[in-house]
Amino acid sequence: MLDWKDWHSRHLERIEVALKTVTPSGLVGVERLESAMSYAVLAGGKRIRPLIVYATYELASPQVKLLTASTVVDQVAMALELIHTYSLVHDDLPAMDNDDFRRGKPTTHKVYDEATALLVGDALQTLSFQMLSELDADLQVKIDLIKELSFSAGVHGMCGGQAIDLANVGLILSLEQLIQMHQLKTGALLRTAIRLGTIMASLSEADKKSLDQFANDVGLGFQVTDDILDATQNSETLGKTAGKDAQNNKPTFVSFMGLAQAQSYAEDLLHSAIRHISHFGEEAEPLRRIAYWAFQRSS
Ligand code: IPE
Ligand code: IPE
Ligand code: MG
Ligand code: MG
Ligand code: MG
Repeated sequence: MLDWKDWHSRHLERIEVALKTVTPSGLVGVERLESAMSYAVLAGGKRIRPLIVYATYELASPQVKLLTASTVVDQVAMALELIHTYSLVHDDLPAMDNDDFRRGKPTTHKVYDEATALLVGDALQTLSFQMLSELDADLQVKIDLIKELSFSAGVHGMCGGQAIDLANVGLILSLEQLIQMHQLKTGALLRTAIRLGTIMASLSEADKKSLDQFANDVGLGFQVTDDILDATQNSETLGKTAGKDAQNNKPTFVSFMGLAQAQSYAEDLLHSAIRHISHFGEEAEPLRRIAYWAFQRSS
């Protein structure tokens, strides 16, 4: 039986160690930018996306394609976390959500300045794709990884969802529009965590499809849960300012259907996610535990 605590701490350690290997360029004059990049990246966070990459990759590990598997997987997990961190740094800017706290610390633009925070996002994003392009892996695998991540980070995914979020401040969306916004701004990168894992491994089309369906539910549910936590937790527990969605007049699942309904919507998504991977055995246990955690977390 899976020892989840052990699995979680081993893989968390693995991604933290990997993230620390980003070395400064040595260029004179960029010290402040590089210090701000480290500040944003090494501030902690749950690292759920890298953990999903590891869990998916390991699920398929009997059929892995890569020779230098472990280091390549670390780099891929890291590339995704860099994109996610960039999205948070920009999301917190005054022009977007105007947040002072993130991961229990002052936001990057508060510690440095807005221009530096913009550049942190830009530089983390390009670093992520640079890392993928430099992977010690099959050329086609690299292209597939870059294609997947660029698609889900851009207008078809996270950026598109953020644009919809900003365009709808103070407005009431339909349920379909709300679902689409959440699937794009948050669901896309979570689904990509699964897909990056499957690109590196050989799985049947049927298995890939059920993992994709699992990822869709977890991705949407992750943002529904984020909406719920914003309305129910305090800032200390969250590590970011609580009540920010209501304060900013954001359309969320809580504002749309109320807290109790949003909670039961999230529960349905969790059960649906678990059902999609029920035919896997013990090898999918880390993914199941991550799903429970994604929905039952307190921050
Ligand atoms: C926060 O993501 C922003 C959303 C997409 C909901 P996380 O809740 O994964 O934040 P960290 O990385 O753990 O700080
Ligand atoms: C942001 O959603 C999702 C991103 C793409 C960064 P939120 O604005 O709700 O995320 P938090 O609550 O600030 O982490
Ligand atoms: Mg936002
Ligand atoms: Mg925000
Ligand atoms: Mg939020």
